Amino acid sequence: MKNIAILCSGGDVSGMNPALKHFVEYSLQKGLTPYFVYDGYEGLIDNNIREATYKDVSGIINRGGTKIRSARSKRFIDKKYRDIAKKNLDMLNIDMLVVLGGDGSFKGLDIFYKENGIKFCGIPATIDNDISGTEYCLGVDSALNIIKTSIDSIRDTAASFSRAFVIETMGRDCGYLALISALTCGAELCLIPEKEYDLKSYEDKFKKEIQNGRRYFLAIVSEGIKQDSKEIAEWFSQKIGMESKVTVLGHVQRGGNPTVYDRLMAYKFINHAITALLQGKDESVICYTKDGFKYKSIDEVVNTTFKLDPELLEFLENV
Ligand code: F6P
Repeated sequence: MKNIAILCSGGDVSGMNPALKHFVEYSLQKGLTPYFVYDGYEGLIDNNIREATYKDVSGIINRGGTKIRSARSKRFIDKKYRDIAKKNLDMLNIDMLVVLGGDGSFKGLDIFYKENGIKFCGIPATIDNDISGTEYCLGVDSALNIIKTSIDSIRDTAASFSRAFVIETMGRDCGYLALISALTCGAELCLIPEKEYDLKSYEDKFKKEIQNGRRYFLAIVSEGIKQDSKEIAEWFSQKIGMESKVTVLGHVQRGGNPTVYDRLMAYKFINHAITALLQGKDESVICYTKDGFKYKSIDEVVNTTFKLDPELLEFLENV
């Protein structure tokens, strides 16, 4: 029997639990013994690694977050701790690792492989959807659906009360969540870090719209823009002449019931990751592209700057 382990690193996403469930099922199907590493790389260092069974994953497919928890480990950056992690894996005879996380998490993995030969397959998982080489990261659809529900609710009250709402999404330096939400939920203004803007250029247009009967505005802004959301709201009050409110969606975007799409993507990502390791692909990231799933090298994923799809950026012009 060969042993394989899985861990979650960085921000949790809805879709990790369905991935854990399928990891156990598919590993056993392939004659592997599955292990869970709790608390990300911290668990590797602290030997918080336990064999996983069907019982561990029953009843989790519908739950957000991750049953094995996640962490952003500072200690794993230090070789001293990576050596401890290697010893812990050796004790359990584990030489294959599946990691759900972002590119920061993959960087550490690559070093670990080069030093210690622990084979890995990375599965892109972040609501930010900002990993180079993949069109999709696990958790994005669930986050977008939470944002959609929130914006739809805010629209109800904005329309009833003649207000401007500034709705701030997560995404770190990437405007993907804000942009897709603006395109799919409707917004009068969408501000993202990838595009310079000048609020002044909207003033005449918005005032005219009010004269023509517009009674509310929705502005969807990404947390990564230079201005604070409160400043945008003040601009609505002072320059456009409409009472304004700010809603920072925050961590609600990361949790909740995983969507059907994320459950299916979790299933597929896991299948590809385990297959890669069994086929002797020792250091890859499984990416989802326009041509389907593709194994990419860690270099390609980690050392290439992420760029938002130019087609999506063009759509921003029409928001
Ligand atoms: O990377 C995922 C993410 O949710 C970002 O969108 C956000 O900026 C950050 O993590 C928040 O991190 P934390 O949960 O540590 O506050």
